[in-house]
Amino acid sequence: MDRPWISTNLAISADGKISAVDRRPSGWTSAADHARLKELRLGAQALMVGRGTWAADRMTMTSPENPLRCVVSASGNFDRSHPIFTTPGGEIHLLATGGEGVEPIERAAIHHASLEAFLELLARDHGVERLHCEGGGSLIRSLAELDAIDEFHLTWAGHTLFGGKSAPTPTGVPGAFLPASLKFELSAFEPTSEGECFLSYRRIRD
Ligand SMILES: NC(=O)c1ccc[n+]([C@@H]2O[C@H](COP(=O)([O-])OP(=O)(O)OC[C@H]3O[C@@H](n4cnc5c(N)ncnc54)[C@H](OP(=O)(O)O)[C@@H]3O)[C@@H](O)[C@H]2O)c1
Repeated sequence: MDRPWISTNLAISADGKISAVDRRPSGWTSAADHARLKELRLGAQALMVGRGTWAADRMTMTSPENPLRCVVSASGNFDRSHPIFTTPGGEIHLLATGGEGVEPIERAAIHHASLEAFLELLARDHGVERLHCEGGGSLIRSLAELDAIDEFHLTWAGHTLFGGKSAPTPTGVPGAFLPASLKFELSAFEPTSEGECFLSYRRIRD
């Protein structure tokens, strides 16, 4: 697959969850983590999130370099009153992988394709060499199934426990194993004074 180089970023609780039972939005980690989240967006020509995260965290996905702002959905159920549509930033690209045709939305390009084809389109038609994905777990699981994650950033936020049998993890709500385990090597390890640890891992492919 001729796709962009893909990095991901997530914060995880001490028990390996990315969200509380009440679907706690962003803001449960430190200011330093928030600064790192912004920094990790630099150098990417596209940012991408799943529709669940986009809706729950009201993400407008802005960054000084104005990367493309991509939202992935199967249903195509995009909230037209979402603040992304009134917040200046990069081009908005909405992917609907299933369902019926999505009505046009002002200031957004709508694509009907598979996730794999969409990644190829971003590289081919929009010159996206680096794409940065900020979750959620369902979307990251799909990227892992395609073996399309090249770098994995985590903030280990050991100060918080979320619990929850069905709380999402970095690969979504616990369920089936991935088709195969994916190996990564540690490329950065930075404990912080706020009780968190910034970790980065690079994919090892044999
Ligand atoms: N701790 C963190 O760093 C972090 C980061 C991100 C998110 N979160 C939290 O995680 C929660 C959301 O988790 P989630 O796993 O539900 O998130 P998600 O992946 O953002 O959203 C799931 C939805 O995105 C769409 N989607 C995901 N993968 C898809 C694929 N391969 N093809 C087509 N559509 C796809 C589907 O939308 P449709 O329903 O429209 O079909 C799906 O229902 C939120 O509470 C958020 O705050 C935490």
